[in-house]
Amino acid sequence: MARLLVTGGAGFIGSNFVHHALAHTDHHITVLDKLTYAGNAASLEGLDPSRFRFVHGDIVDAALVDELFADVDAVVHYAAESHNDNSLHDPRPFLDTNIVGTYTLLEAARRHGTRLHHISTDEVYGDLELDDPARFTETTPYNPSSPYSSTKAGSDLLVRAWVRSFGVAATISNCSNNYGPYQHVEKFIPRQVTNVLRGIRPKLYGAGENVRDWIHAEDHSAAVLTILDKGEIGETYLIGADGEKNNKEVVELILELMGEPADAYDHVTDRAGHDLRYAIDSTKLRSELGWTPAYQDFEAGLAATIEWYRDNESWWAPAKDATEAFYASKGQ
Ligand code: NAD
Ligand code: DAU
Repeated sequence: MARLLVTGGAGFIGSNFVHHALAHTDHHITVLDKLTYAGNAASLEGLDPSRFRFVHGDIVDAALVDELFADVDAVVHYAAESHNDNSLHDPRPFLDTNIVGTYTLLEAARRHGTRLHHISTDEVYGDLELDDPARFTETTPYNPSSPYSSTKAGSDLLVRAWVRSFGVAATISNCSNNYGPYQHVEKFIPRQVTNVLRGIRPKLYGAGENVRDWIHAEDHSAAVLTILDKGEIGETYLIGADGEKNNKEVVELILELMGEPADAYDHVTDRAGHDLRYAIDSTKLRSELGWTPAYQDFEAGLAATIEWYRDNESWWAPAKDATEAFYASKGQ
């Protein structure tokens, strides 16, 4: 049994990790979350209070972070500003949380000798051409495109520097696009699913040729537990499930699974600087640490995710109108 501190545990992937770790280990978990617009306490309702506690606070708050690090064996750091479109509108919170927040955690890890796992993204590597046979690996040079991905890249480099210069016991993982329950309606798949549920046509940026490499959040959680258990300090592991699909294919599949005509969507203004394609080669994680994804069938995983949104309107409805009003103001 270990005592884990999970930052950003009220967000999409963090809350999936908390549910997964409580179900598959005997760890005790403390979540530290600021409950920004992206955090939702309802995602953590009903958890066993003898193994779970929630702390409302900011990872930039050094005194609070120091106090929490004193009582845990390891930290899994999910907290971030995570949405590319928001980073184009207002980059500042991305610098505060992704850069200064990660710095604050690293300094606490250094003081307390705490094991830290830093959650990052494949977007740090930039993008690939559609016909490029290569995929991202742990040695691909960093080349981020957006304020979001550049602050994530900066946070990764801070972790690497704190490992090398101060001996902090950290690992990093860079994962591809996640889907599953508890994802905010600003993101692609929940936005389109909840649009259809509301009778609004899905919105596709540009021509919809951009490719994302989809992985179920449950598989991401299992990979992180594997790295915490068996990962080598100082190493980076890429997490992906060979799920490349272009956005047009995904929208058409959502419409088909929801009983609508496959062409019942609108093309809207493209995202500035829109990355064309991400693709992960997760050979290192699979061969060195023995992880394999359980969700191999994207259509089945997507159908289950659609059902979750159908059954949990009270979870997503409070954020839906404001999210659509913001997109409408940008022509998206
Ligand atoms: P999210 O936006 O759904 O959740 C982020 C959480 O962090 C929220 O609960 C929010 O309240 C909290 N938070 C934000 N700023 C904070 C602060 N200063 N202090 C404390 N808490 C704060 O994000 P997500 O999609 O779950 O992503 C989680 C992590 O995984 C991020 O680091 C992201 O870069 C990474 N990631 C995401 C994906 C993806 O597909 N969503 C893929 C790869 C990596
Ligand atoms: O690759 C990992 C990254 O995946 C994470 O680091 C980010 O935190 C996460 O948000 C996600 O980034 P993307 O920008 O790829 O995700 P998003 O859901 O915003 O968009 C997915 C694709 O769908 C992208 O090509 C843009 C497109 N899109 C998005 C929205 C919201 C649309 O076509 N229409 C939309 O309405």
